[in-house]
Amino acid sequence: MGLIPQHIIDEVIGRSDIVDVVSNYVTLKQAGRNYKALSPFNNEKTPSFIVSPDKQIFHCFSSGIGGNVVNFIMKMEHLSFPEAIRFLADKVGVSILEIRSTTESQDNIRKSILKINEMTVEYYHKHLISDKSSAAQKARDYLLKQRNVSLEIIEQFQIGFALDQWDGLLEHLKDKDINLRLMEQAGLIIPKKQRDGYFDCFRNRIIFPIFDTQGHCRAFGARTLEKDNPAKYINSPETAIYTKGHHLYGFHLARESVVKNDFIIMVEGYVDCITTVQAGIKNIVASLGTALTVEQVRLIRRYTKNVIMLYDSDKAGEAAMMRSFDMLIEQGMNVKVTSLAQGEDPDSFIRQYGVKDFANRINASKTIFDYKLNVLMKKHNNANTIEEKVAIASQMLPTIKKISNEVLRSGYIQKLSKVLIVSEEALNMELKKISDKDGFLSNEVGSSDKSMGLLQEKFNNIELNILKSLLEENKFIPMIKNEVNLEDFKDQRIRAVISKIYNLFEEGKEIKTSSLINDFEDQEIQQIISRVLVDDQNGLGNKEKWHRDIIARFKNDRSKRYRQELLQQIREAEASGDQERLEQLKKRFNQSIKN
Ligand code: CTP
Ligand code: MN
Repeated sequence: MGLIPQHIIDEVIGRSDIVDVVSNYVTLKQAGRNYKALSPFNNEKTPSFIVSPDKQIFHCFSSGIGGNVVNFIMKMEHLSFPEAIRFLADKVGVSILEIRSTTESQDNIRKSILKINEMTVEYYHKHLISDKSSAAQKARDYLLKQRNVSLEIIEQFQIGFALDQWDGLLEHLKDKDINLRLMEQAGLIIPKKQRDGYFDCFRNRIIFPIFDTQGHCRAFGARTLEKDNPAKYINSPETAIYTKGHHLYGFHLARESVVKNDFIIMVEGYVDCITTVQAGIKNIVASLGTALTVEQVRLIRRYTKNVIMLYDSDKAGEAAMMRSFDMLIEQGMNVKVTSLAQGEDPDSFIRQYGVKDFANRINASKTIFDYKLNVLMKKHNNANTIEEKVAIASQMLPTIKKISNEVLRSGYIQKLSKVLIVSEEALNMELKKISDKDGFLSNEVGSSDKSMGLLQEKFNNIELNILKSLLEENKFIPMIKNEVNLEDFKDQRIRAVISKIYNLFEEGKEIKTSSLINDFEDQEIQQIISRVLVDDQNGLGNKEKWHRDIIARFKNDRSKRYRQELLQQIREAEASGDQERLEQLKKRFNQSIKN
């Protein structure tokens, strides 16, 4: 299927009136500048479905779904984006001439890299299975005999081998008429430093293709067979289709089992994932060595809310898990932790003790609270001294603070108080001092914000208001850009939208609010935009003043956060008795109050 050119998409959206289109499905009633209806996506008694004719946007408060006229048709008629465009084009009389763009647009590059990766997976896989070279023979022996990986699993995960050659893949792809530039953009070949020409990225290594949820190969991990090679793994660089931390190894094979079991097991390594699947436990993925990211958790959340963390039982694995806990709770996940004997990883454990013992370990996993407390107690000498108690409390409390269930929270405080032999009162007082990292500041900004209520639970109100400001009046863009840094936005989704707006602005392009939505595939981002846009209550008399207020609040919030962080560090420095650092931190704190 050809591409629909952007100007045609714009024309279709421009000519379609969302009020007309939606009226074909539900009865709209005027309400202020907007229209209201009973949601077509939900069974409801009170209308919560809003259409804004000014912004050409709809938003359904009961389901959270929102978007422009294309998103509406996609949802109502169960169509893909291009299908919905064709559907609408038909109605408004735009003829769609699908053209194959001859220039390498970003979209085309992505498609080409996907295609190249597919060929590459096949090429490497074929060599692992049947190449006659001694290097390939060694790789086969290593996987099949030393690591006990079955042929069936090698097929399932499409594991491969890069021959011990400088240009095996390069020549293979050249024969298929792939140009060098694209191979480089796919991260598969590297230019030579001294002379002209390129060489293969992966040589004499076992290849683990990394697939997305749809089973398309996005990148590769490559393991050396040499024991003393310091680069145990080499991984693909980021490319047009691969961002580190956005994917989970093995997810395309795990999906079904994740839904069936309603939980997912998260391990660190390729081999851990593979061995466990081979042993019959299929709801498992690997986060690939990096700290777990919000994007990865969002992937999972579409299928289950229950996660079992099972990283290597060593210092690095423990630390990586500890770092991920607060984020997991923030993302609304229920998390448990399994630990194995010191130095073990799932792969070695299953080979030594078998899958039954492994399943028992999974069933006996601990809550984050118990696991973290246990780790900290060990680290701090079982809380013998007051300083050790402070150190443990100061690390447990921020995690407890994230838990939204009051009963659970008070239960944990009770337990912590018993273990540390510290009064609950003191712990509760400390808990109060911790800033709610995602705490939503009061919504006094624009007393109009009643309807922001629903969204507020999920998103930071001030950040939403800044986004609103940017979308409402393009003239605010340079001002905001000057005064607040992108990095200061806590919410990554809001940050993504604002970054896009900044870019469009810099390129001198018009910012069409209703088509901005289609620049994002993440539904939560679409919801943020539609939600902010249907809010018509901001007819505040003085927009400039409202705007200045919101910036001031944002900055205030930012410095508050900074001071809270300093306070936390001061508490830690006090606990550890590091006087020099303490002095330094106190100075910084006083300075920040003065500013
Ligand atoms: N990793 C990496 N680069 C490295 C080391 C590790 O990208 N130099 C990532 C890989 O995704 C690896 C994961 O971190 O799978 C876990 O590392 P490790 O436990 O060392 O690897 P295993 O997959 O367990 O490999 P093996 O059992 O073969 O040693
Ligand atoms: Mn391992």
